[in-house]
Parts: sequence; C-alpha cells; structure tokens
Amino acid sequence: MKKLKILLLTLMLLTGLYFLLTTKSSLAEQGGNEDLIIYTKPVKAVSFNHKAHSEDYGISCNICHDKIFQMEALNVEKKDDFNHKSFSKGKYCGVCHDGKKGFAMDRQCTRCHIGVKGLNKISKR
Ligand code: HEC
Ligand code: HEC
Ligand code: HEC
Repeated sequence: MKKLKILLLTLMLLTGLYFLLTTKSSLAEQGGNEDLIIYTKPVKAVSFNHKAHSEDYGISCNICHDKIFQMEALNVEKKDDFNHKSFSKGKYCGVCHDGKKGFAMDRQCTRCHIGVKGLNKISKR
C-alpha cells in the first residue's frame, strides 16, 4: 500500500516536470523566440515581445531596467496598478505606448491582447 502511494507520487511529480519542461521549449519552438513574455493578470492574455523590443526597436536595456520593469518575468503583474489607468498616466507600457514613441493603447487592442485563444495557440504542442 505504502509502495503504491510512493509510486503514484513519483509519477505525479514526473508528469508535472514533463509539462513544465515541454511547454517552455514549445514557446521557443513556436515563435523561435523564448523571449516572449505572456501576462495573464488581471486579464488573459497580453503578449510582450522582449526580443523585439530590445533588438528590433533598438531600445537599450537601461531605458526599461530597472526604472520601469525589474529583470524578472511576470514580476510586474503582481502589482495592483498594472492596468490601463496607470498606462494612460504614463506608467509601465504607457511610458512609450502613448501614440508617439510607440503606438497608442486606446486602439489596436489585439496587437497586445492575444486573448485566451492566442494563449492556447502559443502553448499548444
Ligand atoms: C521595452 C522595455 C525593455 C527593454 C528595452 C529591455 N527589457 Fe528586459 N524586460 C522587460 C520586461 C517588461 C520584462 C518582464 C518584467 C516583468 O514581467 O515584470 C523584462 C525582463 C527581463 C529579464 C528577466 C527575464 C526572465 O525570464 O525572468 C532580463 C534578464 C532582462 N529583461 C534583461 C534585459 C536586457 C539585458 C536588456 C537589453 C539587451 C533588456 N532586458 C531590455 C522590458 C524590457
Ligand atoms: C521603452 C519604450 C517601450 C515600452 C516600455 C514598451 N514598448 Fe512596446 N513598443 C515600443 C516601440 C518603440 C515599438 C515599435 C513601434 C510601434 O510599433 O509602436 C513597440 C512595439 C510593441 C508591439 C508591436 C508588436 C510586437 O510584439 O513587437 C507590442 C505588441 C508592444 N510593443 C507591446 C508592449 C507591452 C505589452 C508593453 C508593456 C509590458 C510594452 N510594449 C512596453 C516601445 C515600448
Ligand atoms: C501596448 C499594449 C496594449 C494595448 C494596445 C492594449 N492593452 Fe489592455 N492591457 C495591456 C497590459 C500589459 C495589461 C495588463 C496585463 C494583463 O492584464 O494581462 C492590460 C490589461 C487590460 C485590461 C484589464 C486591466 C484594466 O485596465 O482594466 C483590460 C480590460 C484591457 N487591457 C483592455 C484593453 C482594450 C479594450 C484595449 C484597446 C482599446 C487595450 N486593452 C489595448 C496591454 C495593452
């Protein structure tokens, strides 16, 4: 009985580990870019292409770090004010997405909001 329990626990741990590892590598495979950060709080799901921002748009690291964002994925979504009220006051993404430095946040919602379907697409194997 005890042996069976231990066996089951090990199995559960292994499956958990398997899913953790495979979803991570599939993110990289899908877009060829492991630098995609997907926010799910408060709403699912917003995509931030870290690689594009730092490489393609030529924004240097110290513009965003650590004044706007910490060097820790998904840290900012723990904050209560990670929302459009703050963005429109020029915080977080709103530092640039004001319609001047970057496209405005009061239209083209789906450029950032990939939604639940988009999230499933990205994380499916
Ligand atoms: C346009 C803004 C921006 C620029 C430019 C930028 N970053 Fe980031 N970076 C972010 C955001 C946003 C996050 C995620 C923070 C969060 O979710 O709280 C992040 C996260 C990180 C992380 C943590 C990744 C992880 O998986 O935890 C590292 C390391 C990092 N950045 C390094 C850099 C370096 C090095 C550069 C320059 C080559 C750079 N960043 C340029 C916005 C930027
Ligand atoms: C330091 C300035 C800066 C910050 C901060 C910033 N962006 Fe951008 N972003 C840009 C620029 C510049 C572009 C390219 C020009 C454009 O399309 O407006 C861009 C382009 C984008 C694009 C276009 C498609 C893509 O993926 O490349 C998306 C989506 C986007 N940003 C989302 C975000 C989100 C979400 C945040 C906050 C987590 C954010 N950005 C923070 C400057 C910034
Ligand atoms: C430049 C990227 C960007 C654009 C454009 C954008 N959003 Fe967002 N939005 C975000 C981010 C980042 C969050 C916070 C993270 C999360 O909720 O996953 C957010 C959160 C939200 C939220 C929940 C928090 C709140 O403020 O109420 C709603 C609702 C929302 N967006 C609606 C919209 C609508 C509607 C549009 C178009 C008119 C839009 N967004 C355009 C990036 C964007």
